[in-house]
Amino acid sequence: MKVGDQHYRSIALNPDGWRVDIIDQTRLPHEFLIKTLETLDDAATAIRDMWVRGAPLIGATAAYGLCLALRQNTSDADLESARKMLLQTRPTAINLRWALDDVIARLRPLPEHQRLEAAYQRAATICDEDISTNSAIGDYGHAIIRQLWEQKGQPDIVNILTHCNAGWLATVDWGTALAPIYKAHAAGIPVHVWVDETRPRNQGASLTTWELQAHGIPHHLIVDNAGGHLMQQGQVDLCLVGTDRTAANGDVCNKIGTYLKALAAFDNQVPFYVALPGTTIDWRIHDGIKDIPIEQRAPDEVTHLNGKTATGDLQHIQITADGCQAANPAFDITPARLITGLITERGICKASATGLSGLFPEQ
Ligand code: MRU
Repeated sequence: MKVGDQHYRSIALNPDGWRVDIIDQTRLPHEFLIKTLETLDDAATAIRDMWVRGAPLIGATAAYGLCLALRQNTSDADLESARKMLLQTRPTAINLRWALDDVIARLRPLPEHQRLEAAYQRAATICDEDISTNSAIGDYGHAIIRQLWEQKGQPDIVNILTHCNAGWLATVDWGTALAPIYKAHAAGIPVHVWVDETRPRNQGASLTTWELQAHGIPHHLIVDNAGGHLMQQGQVDLCLVGTDRTAANGDVCNKIGTYLKALAAFDNQVPFYVALPGTTIDWRIHDGIKDIPIEQRAPDEVTHLNGKTATGDLQHIQITADGCQAANPAFDITPARLITGLITERGICKASATGLSGLFPEQ
């Protein structure tokens, strides 16, 4: 997608052909800063400290992290220790494990001197495939938005609520949940987006609004608790979110607060769709609530906020009394029964074991 006049991907090989450029998402929306990763440690830090975030982008960064590790050492043992280190950075997004396993499975049979080049090639392909996958998700999701628009009676506006950031910043390009919105907007459908701020890290407030603003898509930022009210008032036609891990039975794990939106949507008969690439499905898990690991993040993400002061300085401020204890589960599970449908690169299916295996029979 474009920033100003220039087209960017959220991750790209540096022009030197070996380092890896990323957008430091902790600085947005106030500063657009490209950072360059040079080592395995850099890649692990970028994922752990959320310079990059969003399930597909975490996977792509991990793939490049292996490339950077291979520049130092190419043995099986070194590959395994790089894999271990990257895998520990964030526990919930399954794309991380998927990308590591995918790259390593391709490298293992190769002689050591061929591994580095093969790893870079595969990382580049993972990025390219992510873009075409998300574009396809965008096309299928666009059809849902068009249908709602036609049902409403054109030229009425389609109001879509989204949570967290599942836009191009969370993937390599396009996004998952935002791809259908970009495509519908480009096709001339009048869309308006309600953006949940998404406490505690405010990915909605700082990233999704930034993306939508850059693309001229009408939107309003809302506090996380406003969605239920807006649905009761008939001001939401569709909820559209992404996912970090989808169980084989259709349960969806996404940013904390998604479940409450799905409950409100169910109660108000608002369609609730989840957009996901096949790489986000964990075929080993058949009960998301029981078996998907939920990342517990630092309490200071809850007790403190980042923001810009009136003088333009970026500051980190405390909003609680000194010594306040906070808990910070970062994801929750939306049970399949609350989900209207899953939008994948292969089409739309029911959130169920049969729905998913119908689209991905090879699994
Ligand atoms: O903690 P984050 O910012 O990595 O969480 C991101 C999300 O929850 C997204 O909704 C999810 O990764 C889907 S992104 C296409």
